[in-house]
Amino acid sequence: MAAMDLNRMIERLNALIALDYDAVGAYAAAIHRIDVESLRMRLREFQQDHVRHIQDLSRVVMDLGGTPRQKPDAMGFILKGFTAVTSMMGNEAALQAMRGNEVLTNHTYRMALDESWSDEARAIIERNFSDEQRHLAFIEDALRNRSWEQLPMQP
Ligand SMILES: [Fe+2]
Repeated sequence: MAAMDLNRMIERLNALIALDYDAVGAYAAAIHRIDVESLRMRLREFQQDHVRHIQDLSRVVMDLGGTPRQKPDAMGFILKGFTAVTSMMGNEAALQAMRGNEVLTNHTYRMALDESWSDEARAIIERNFSDEQRHLAFIEDALRNRSWEQLPMQP
């Protein structure tokens, strides 16, 4: 299958970059709301994964001769269906909001894999998708186990 048109590829990669910027912002809000340090640590790792996605995807955009996005869409947060984490939210509500956001990033990355990418782009998108699956699985597990209610684990 021939790789898709260059401009379309750049456009699609920039849409993923915008989504990852939104995810970084959503994690920042969630980390602020969650008061269990072990959970916050994991969410910081996930936030860093999204930062790496932006860096890796931006490099591909530049290799293709495009200009990577520097920030999310002005209204992307709402249009793309991200749930804002607000100051009213405690641990559970913030995790629920992030579960919804991770469902969205998982869906978007899964759909992106249907496109005919160059090998380099595909490898990065597959790696990012596997990060997304890991993020969602962890958050679902934390909600199922109500892990914010547990005593801190012994080191
Ligand atoms: Fe994620």
